[in-house]
Amino acid sequence: MSLKRKTRAVFSGRFGVIAAAAGSAIGLGNIWKFPYITHKYGGGAFVYVYLGFILAIGLPIMLSEIVIGRKSRRNAFGAFKKLAPGKPWKFIGIFGVGAAFLILSFYSVIAGWSLKYIVFSITDSFNSLDSAGISDLFENFHTSPGSPALYHIIFMILTGTIVIMGVHKGIESFSKILMPLLLVLLIVLDIKALTSKDAGNGLIFLFNPDFSKLTYEGILDALGHAFFSLSLGMGTLITYGSYIKKQNNLVRTAVQVTVADTVIAILAAVAIILAVPETDIASHKGGPGLIFIVLPNVFNMPDMIGGYYFSILFFTLLTIAALTSAISILEVVVAFFSEELKMKRNIAVGFAVVLITLLGIICSLSFGIYKDVTFFNLSVFDLLDFIATKVMLPLGGMLIALFIGWGFGRYKVFREIAHGGSLKGWFLRIFMILVKYVAPISIFLILLKMTGLLDLILGCFGFHFE
Ligand code: PHE
Repeated sequence: MSLKRKTRAVFSGRFGVIAAAAGSAIGLGNIWKFPYITHKYGGGAFVYVYLGFILAIGLPIMLSEIVIGRKSRRNAFGAFKKLAPGKPWKFIGIFGVGAAFLILSFYSVIAGWSLKYIVFSITDSFNSLDSAGISDLFENFHTSPGSPALYHIIFMILTGTIVIMGVHKGIESFSKILMPLLLVLLIVLDIKALTSKDAGNGLIFLFNPDFSKLTYEGILDALGHAFFSLSLGMGTLITYGSYIKKQNNLVRTAVQVTVADTVIAILAAVAIILAVPETDIASHKGGPGLIFIVLPNVFNMPDMIGGYYFSILFFTLLTIAALTSAISILEVVVAFFSEELKMKRNIAVGFAVVLITLLGIICSLSFGIYKDVTFFNLSVFDLLDFIATKVMLPLGGMLIALFIGWGFGRYKVFREIAHGGSLKGWFLRIFMILVKYVAPISIFLILLKMTGLLDLILGCFGFHFE
């Protein structure tokens, strides 16, 4: 163990850190999920609530996770064990490992769809189809039992292989070149969307808030998605933070990753939502299939130059973005297995990959042959998404904020943050207010509201609100 500690890997440079953390944050959450949930909850108001959560809750918790990771140089569980020995904080780590398990099992199913869409693109399968045909293609593919499960398995094998290759070679080298390319592609799609005839309505839908459309479920989803998109609440950034060198400036890292993640999400939403009416899918349902229906339509448009190549490139980059996120999720589980349960790294990877793949297969089948198997009215896919994204990540984030705000000691937090840069007093004061009060209290109230307990408690005092 002591040998392992000495040789514990670190990211090479500043760009390596940002690229890896941004690689984790930027993924299906931004490009697949953000557009479809924004569509589902009626646009503008949802977007602003989401941005508010990113700023007031996401950013401070991201900084908290990185601080915990770098200070302790441990996995998500070991970190709390080291920083707060003998205290129950370490269970946050176990909770995180559980969330990582659930998330990767449905994440890799969607990543498998993206992988399949590379194949559809290469074989030029969209070209001869009209918009109804493209919807049918998606419908038939994702509800069939064999193909989506197969692509999910391939994706998991890819993820496992990269994680076995190790932190440096595996994660860094992938992220560095490809993420900027994805950005360029999204910008091209945005320009295309902004010049479409319905662009104005799309922009109003996205950025002109109508708060009467916002539901409590939408608020919870905005909160959960802020965690999901920034890779927070389950120890990913504790684990990545543990590979960051002492001389790196943590605040800058957190701000840059948050900004990059948010910009990509907004660019993706503009590209997709503005194209919805043009691609004639308004009559079809949105949901998880949204990008897989809208984008092939966009690539098919007569004025889309090089649509064939664009489509291949786009789904390839999307799959790689998903891969860099998936490896960060798997890394949480593997670091825990290998450092805490003392498993060999390769065995830990194999073990985790097999379990997650099996759960993922059930999840994949829940779009087709298992779609009637429901729990609380949710399919297996929706259930895993709900438990992990809307409950576990916010709860984990709340506990992490409480640990930094109340459990760890103000002085130690400041010293770790200030390493590698100088910091203004006002920044630290605001940061402390956010992690001590704002983040935990708002998360607590939102979760309480969702369970119905808030109404019950307020009802006892004679308050009623809907
Ligand atoms: N942030 C990733 C995305 O947006 C998903 C993720 C969630 C990664 C949680 C790590 C932890 O796709």
